[in-house]
Amino acid sequence: MVTAIFPAAGRGSRMKAARNKILLELAGESILVQTLKRFARIDRISKMIIAVSKEEIPIIQNLLESKNFSKPIQIVEGGSERQFSIYNAIKKLSPESEIVLIHDAARPLVSTETIERVIDSAIEFGGSIAAVPEKNTIKIATSERFVDKTLPRNLLWEIQTPQAFRREIIEKAYESAISDKFLGTDDSSLVERIGYPVKIVESESSNIKITTPDDLLFAKEFIRRRDDGII
Ligand code: CTP
Ligand code: MG
Repeated sequence: MVTAIFPAAGRGSRMKAARNKILLELAGESILVQTLKRFARIDRISKMIIAVSKEEIPIIQNLLESKNFSKPIQIVEGGSERQFSIYNAIKKLSPESEIVLIHDAARPLVSTETIERVIDSAIEFGGSIAAVPEKNTIKIATSERFVDKTLPRNLLWEIQTPQAFRREIIEKAYESAISDKFLGTDDSSLVERIGYPVKIVESESSNIKITTPDDLLFAKEFIRRRDDGII
């Protein structure tokens, strides 16, 4: 079975709104509910675990109860960093969870096809992440802000979520990162550092992480066109 974990315990400080960005409205629902709806329709996903900050547990519990999702949803308390929020959810995994899929609550535009392909690829290779080919030229700078080197763009991928792994691998990766005090910027980086392969699945550039007010504008228009069948 597949368990999906959603880190939702951030503050959304770059959104500059009065509340956590995942509770802001997007096309008639909160961003969080829009995200969960994308996964609730996938049969292979049997359970969803959401990491939520302590003070938002009651409001999110109420919100989700009113939505009557067809799959069991467990709420766990988040931590001070995304990685700690996810670790709290990983600690709650049941032994029947063969595949663990992790997806930012702030990425509501993910396609069904990307979710399915990331799961398939994790079953095949042990680890799998959604990504798009890099569009920009990326350079490494020195601390004095001179260019050190230019990276070969044809090898660069911009990494998104979902990211999915066999349970034993992601558990081992998190245990190891926590005991070594390693803080990664995504889940895959924890798996990479203990030497397991991670396969890249090409996703869509529309699978953005809603971070700033502009992103919300894009997401509104994207959902409008998608639901009208324009795209
Ligand atoms: N997240 C989390 N626990 C944290 C920090 C972030 O569960 N301690 C979640 C966010 O809720 C979000 C996802 O991780 O769904 C990606 O993080 P990001 O986009 O950085 O969200 P925020 O941290 O909320 O935003 P900001 O960095 O602008 O404050
Ligand atoms: Mg953040």
